[in-house]
Amino acid sequence: MSDIASIRKTAEAHGQGHMLKFWDELSPSQQTSLLQQLAGIDFNYLDELIAAYIKNKPICEIPGNIQPPTIMPVRPQNQAQEAEYAAARKKGQDLIAAGKVAAFVVAGGQGSRLGYEGPKGCLEATPVVRKPLFRLFAEQIMAASKRARVPIPWYIMTSPDNDVATKAHFRQNDFWGFNHNDVIFFAQGQMPAFGFDGKLVMARKDRLAMSPNGHGGSLLAMQTSGALDDMAKRGVEYISYFQVDNPLVRCLDPLFIGLHALQGAEMSAKCLPKRDPMEKLGNFCVVNGRVAVIEYSDLPEHLARACNPDGRLKFSAGSIAIHVLSRSFVERLTKGGRCSLPWHRADKKVPCIDPAGGAVNPEKPNAVKIEMFVFDALPLAQKTVILETRRDEEFSPIKNAAGEDSLSTSLHAQVRRWTVWLEQAGIKVPRDADGQVSTAIEISPLFADSAEELARKADRNITISVGQSFYLGSRGQIGGAR
Ligand code: UD1
Repeated sequence: MSDIASIRKTAEAHGQGHMLKFWDELSPSQQTSLLQQLAGIDFNYLDELIAAYIKNKPICEIPGNIQPPTIMPVRPQNQAQEAEYAAARKKGQDLIAAGKVAAFVVAGGQGSRLGYEGPKGCLEATPVVRKPLFRLFAEQIMAASKRARVPIPWYIMTSPDNDVATKAHFRQNDFWGFNHNDVIFFAQGQMPAFGFDGKLVMARKDRLAMSPNGHGGSLLAMQTSGALDDMAKRGVEYISYFQVDNPLVRCLDPLFIGLHALQGAEMSAKCLPKRDPMEKLGNFCVVNGRVAVIEYSDLPEHLARACNPDGRLKFSAGSIAIHVLSRSFVERLTKGGRCSLPWHRADKKVPCIDPAGGAVNPEKPNAVKIEMFVFDALPLAQKTVILETRRDEEFSPIKNAAGEDSLSTSLHAQVRRWTVWLEQAGIKVPRDADGQVSTAIEISPLFADSAEELARKADRNITISVGQSFYLGSRGQIGGAR
């Protein structure tokens, strides 16, 4: 390990000598841990970042020529497209059955808006059984694996802050029956927090304030952790990427995977029409001939509200952070252990110490965090498919503690989706005078994870009673038990 004298010299040369201010007060183990942290810092790279993102507030310039992209519709619009979708669905199923597709969830975020203690994937998020999000995804992937008669590997990106707790949660639940060898965890990278003057923020006398480097960090983390090599060994060619916060997500969608593969895309994305012009979704655009996502906070309001002659929003396609990535594309972007996605700056309240070493819990932003976003890889792809999906079928994220996009709105959306499936299968669901369903309803993905599968398997004579929660378990049994 590098010794303290040389680290101190380097740190001081880069204007970061304050990190060692309390060195002499630290215990030997604290000194070791601080030294380890500092030894991992590339000070020259930090200087570049400080100049570009901290001392300068980069202005997100939106070029004048941005256009809406071409979107593949939810339902095929003509016979040719019908044939194309049918062929894509079959291709997707064949690729899954050939073991060429992996599921990948990014679960390294801090979930600060939700205010939930612990990894967000452990949040109990279903209406009857209160399944944690991770279990819901595990059941979907196991169901797909059973249908295709092939093991499907599931890669889970954690962060150094929640890695131990995430793995413990899986072990405590015996992975809900998922083959342990097919669940691959890896932690994403971190970045230090910067003071507005460019000095690194100390969380404690012996510790820098660090935070995950954004879901864009997933690309490099796949490479450095060995996950990409593991995929290559298993013969995985396509990565089905999703976020941990959306219980309605289809973890492996044959149609989406098939369209991506048949069109020779490198990175694809699902979208849906925005609820309103200012909805907090990234916006799909074509910028300088390349598909890109402009984050909701960066798109000027006049563009967010711009309409076509028919009165519909010009930039209506919102990003729901569901992607297919070709493994070869991720390999290309991360060759040589670097991934050159741009950084995004956010001013945040970061707990820290004051010059005397006392703890400070700031009331207003005192520091800058920088993150990479995975959708910034889209313009680097040779080809992208954007497929529209339905909000009621596939998107109801849990982001906030209350109000829009909260656990409560997501529980309602899940009940609504499963009600529609049941009704399509010919099963009566009690509704009140306003047509609302007040019964908690849940269906295990291991029994059915689409309306079509439910219609094939469910007994039409099932009775659902008002006020009694209804759960259809993995073998079709009815009950509310965990
Ligand atoms: C994100 C997208 C937004 C999209 C919306 C859809 C960004 C900046 N914006 O918004 O375009 O419309 O989702 O729901 O992403 N994560 C990590 N590591 C990190 C940071 C995040 O794994 O360092 C994971 C989280 O665990 C979560 C996901 O990424 O699964 C989303 O992160 P979050 O920061 O909550 O994004 P949003 O602002 O909600």
